[in-house]
Amino acid sequence: MVRTSRMFVCQTCGASHAKWAGRCDACGAWNSLVEEAPAEATPKGLGAKRGRKLSFVGLDGPSEKLERRVTGLGEFDRVCGGGLVPGSALLVGGDPGIGKSTLLMQVLAALSGGLRCAYVSGEESVDQLRLRAERMGLTAAPVQLAAATSVRDIAATVDGTDTPDLLVIDSIQTMFVDTLDSAPGTVAQVRSSAQELIRLAKRRGFTLLLVGHVTKEGMIAGPRVLEHMVDTVLYFEGERGHQFRILRAVKNRFGATDEIGVFEMTDLGLKEVPNPSALFLSERQGDVSGASVFAGMEGSRPVLVEIQALVAPSALATPRRAVVGWDSSRLAMILAVLEARCGLSLAGNEVYLNVAGGLRIAEPAADLAVAAALTSAVGGIPLPRETVVFGEIGLSGEVRPVGHAATRLKEAAKLGFSRAIMPARRGAAAGGEDGPKPPRGMRVHAIERLDEVVSMIGSEAGPPRRQIFRSRESA
Ligand code: TYD
Ligand code: MG
Repeated sequence: MVRTSRMFVCQTCGASHAKWAGRCDACGAWNSLVEEAPAEATPKGLGAKRGRKLSFVGLDGPSEKLERRVTGLGEFDRVCGGGLVPGSALLVGGDPGIGKSTLLMQVLAALSGGLRCAYVSGEESVDQLRLRAERMGLTAAPVQLAAATSVRDIAATVDGTDTPDLLVIDSIQTMFVDTLDSAPGTVAQVRSSAQELIRLAKRRGFTLLLVGHVTKEGMIAGPRVLEHMVDTVLYFEGERGHQFRILRAVKNRFGATDEIGVFEMTDLGLKEVPNPSALFLSERQGDVSGASVFAGMEGSRPVLVEIQALVAPSALATPRRAVVGWDSSRLAMILAVLEARCGLSLAGNEVYLNVAGGLRIAEPAADLAVAAALTSAVGGIPLPRETVVFGEIGLSGEVRPVGHAATRLKEAAKLGFSRAIMPARRGAAAGGEDGPKPPRGMRVHAIERLDEVVSMIGSEAGPPRRQIFRSRESA
């Protein structure tokens, strides 16, 4: 039987389907299937020809030390795991307009003193690139520019005598391989173009930096299909209205994945932010209710950030709950624990939660800071200004210890905080010898249960507001 040679590929996740459907079975995206010619027929088994035998080796033995190309942009180097590795492929993903081209231009300019750096753009003309470089004061850097979209042309250039040490492809969605008849930006094209360029980078030993756009609608193939192919995946994120940008490693074969780099977008390009805590707290208001300062960790680095909560009565049958910068199901859990274990009544209220400065928090250690901000919002009682909060909350209302307590406290003390609400160490009395020794001048409230925090905040309420906390006290 002759099989049809067409297939339908989801432009969001890359899954292929034999028939068109309105919704992709694999990822659930709507209207994302596009007809594409299969890149190559699937092999029909290995046949009779025998392969070469492998020779296995042990785990210990000589291995080459990785060479690293250090850019000098400290925030970028840290996220990469200490510099760029020759022969590796790195993907920088992010929303359009977030600053990917700007960042990579700065990286190339920083390295172009000693290494051959080439920048191939499929999105902007050489004039536009020059204009940007001029604005950032980088025109003196010997970076080689070209505007091109054909992978065949790029390969012919870099595979010859002109192999660069670093090659930026901006963006992979604009590149095409002429052996495929699908349009640039489709999964098949993105995958083949990347495959071709990555193979070249490995063979010739240059570092390949790919830019990938992510769009909410999945109109062009997201870099998801590429994540498996490259060695390192970095996401560049931030709120468009804010000047802060955060570079985050989500996959790294040459380093840790929980590091972040913080940048500020200025008129002169991206500026490193070596002390993000000071920046994230710079817009803090005076004594307002519904705000707490979370002493968080991003990788090996402590980051202090303000958590803001707003609780307002709602006329809707299902009140709105909206979160920016945190996990919404985690918020639902904290709200449930506050209601069930601490007697706070939040039903019938809209709840909004915001992590100030455009940071995105993934740590469970933020639970207690969120709960404190919510309690403060419900009662209209500001938390003492010089207080930081951290700790994980369990479903029974217990507060669990989290890692790096000493580092968090040290950072808080450095920024002038003098009180910390944090988990008590299991098995040790509050403030006992086993707990981390707080820095000089830091008063620690060691908490075992969430309701201790709620009554601590409630006890500062004036008579009319105490109403809200009464149900808990009588319970
Ligand atoms: P860009 O690097 O082009 O984003 P991407 O490649 O991710 O699409 O940067 C886009 C935005 O950054 C643009 O809206 C203007 C702003 N920008 C500055 O504010 N200052 C600068 O020096 C530069 C180069 C850009
Ligand atoms: Mg760009």
